[in-house]
Amino acid sequence: MADTLEPRGAVARGLADISKAPEMRLGDRPITPDRYFSSEFARKEWEKVWTRTWQIAGVKRQLVKSGDFITTTLGPETILCVLGDDGKTRAFYNVCQHRGMLLMAEEQGHARRLVCPYHGWAYDLKGELRTVPDELDFAQGSPCGKLNLVEIPCEVWAGFVWYNMDPNCASLRSYMHPIADQIDTYPMDDMVRTHWVTLEGDFNWKLVQDNFNESYHVPFVHPQTKYVMEYAYPFSQFDLYPSGHARMLMPGAGPTKMLQGGEDETLKSMTEELNFWGLDPDQFRGGKTGEIRVALQRQKRLLGAEKGFDFSTYHDAQLTDHWHFTIFPNLSFSLKPDGNIWLRARPHESDPQKCYFDMWYMTLFPKGQTKYFSQSMSDWVDVNVPAPHLQGKLGEVSMGPGIDQDLSVWFGQQKALHSRGYRRDYLAGQESRVRFFHENLERWMLE
Ligand code: FES
Ligand SMILES: [Fe+2]
Repeated sequence: MADTLEPRGAVARGLADISKAPEMRLGDRPITPDRYFSSEFARKEWEKVWTRTWQIAGVKRQLVKSGDFITTTLGPETILCVLGDDGKTRAFYNVCQHRGMLLMAEEQGHARRLVCPYHGWAYDLKGELRTVPDELDFAQGSPCGKLNLVEIPCEVWAGFVWYNMDPNCASLRSYMHPIADQIDTYPMDDMVRTHWVTLEGDFNWKLVQDNFNESYHVPFVHPQTKYVMEYAYPFSQFDLYPSGHARMLMPGAGPTKMLQGGEDETLKSMTEELNFWGLDPDQFRGGKTGEIRVALQRQKRLLGAEKGFDFSTYHDAQLTDHWHFTIFPNLSFSLKPDGNIWLRARPHESDPQKCYFDMWYMTLFPKGQTKYFSQSMSDWVDVNVPAPHLQGKLGEVSMGPGIDQDLSVWFGQQKALHSRGYRRDYLAGQESRVRFFHENLERWMLE
């Protein structure tokens, strides 16, 4: 069983390692299209990847009182996580040991006993079978205490509940190395999930991860970002880590150096944030939008505490820039000083051309405030209004202003990858994280 991670307190938090990782030599093997639609490939992924990697089941705040539980699905499996009377969160396969009934059908709830809806077998919060109807009717002996739920590794860290189906897996912290230390510089336990959306996507899960592994598409798919983000690759930092995870650092709070003009658009997009931090947008008129980033960093340092934030564990670059991470196989997130977006695609139970794409936005409310304007989500959020889980197909739910633009790409790519007229990838240098991801995938599938 993996180690249990104690959340680190603010005192233990230090500054993140911002240094560039050494360059990594990558190959040029084709990223063959079949891996996006082949059932055989998906079957191998299940065996070699999904059943051996750490996944998020939900947020820690869903498990407050003992007996609180959540369920989640991954491919054909459903997983149940329960907070026990001893304060420990455990994960189990969500299946009754009598005849294989789904044990807890709800996505979240509360129970003193986990009771199967078929014949009433009742398990305690540690997964031990305690009572069954007609206990004396089993010639082979009572199943109580014998046929317990099957437990799997579970850890609570960074505000999330994580599980891994591999009983011999590495601890979550060593799996996440070196990104775990970087996440720890954010007060994750204080953040509240304010947005929770799941899209039923008609595309393979890897198209999502590919997309979050490159910013080459950003100027074209997200044209509005040129006013507020330095997306050009010569000014970005890409880090590939031997653990299989990656990072991208991209300056924010100002236009790309590739842009001529556009001052009005930059100032309009940033008005709310500049006003919140006591800066007059007009002071950056006349060719001075390039100065916003540093002015904002200075102002956040100056007024942070007064506004209810503790920025002492952040580099200046964390106050304004885009710190984007991809964790193998299917997790990506962007960390901001006052919140962060977490994104992941889960494989479909049977169809490799489908997936479930989840988005959570975690907001850090300023101390003492219950309402806050989330710049990233362009939305007012309320700490007392728990995020409802919105679920639907394309057009029925929104994943937020930027991500919605990515969605249409994945649908279109899945439709065309089959074509007899397409053979393989032809990647730019700035897409090396895509190559890296596929090399890691191949490595896991061979092990
Ligand atoms: S299948 Fe669960 S009690 Fe029978
Ligand atoms: Fe995108």
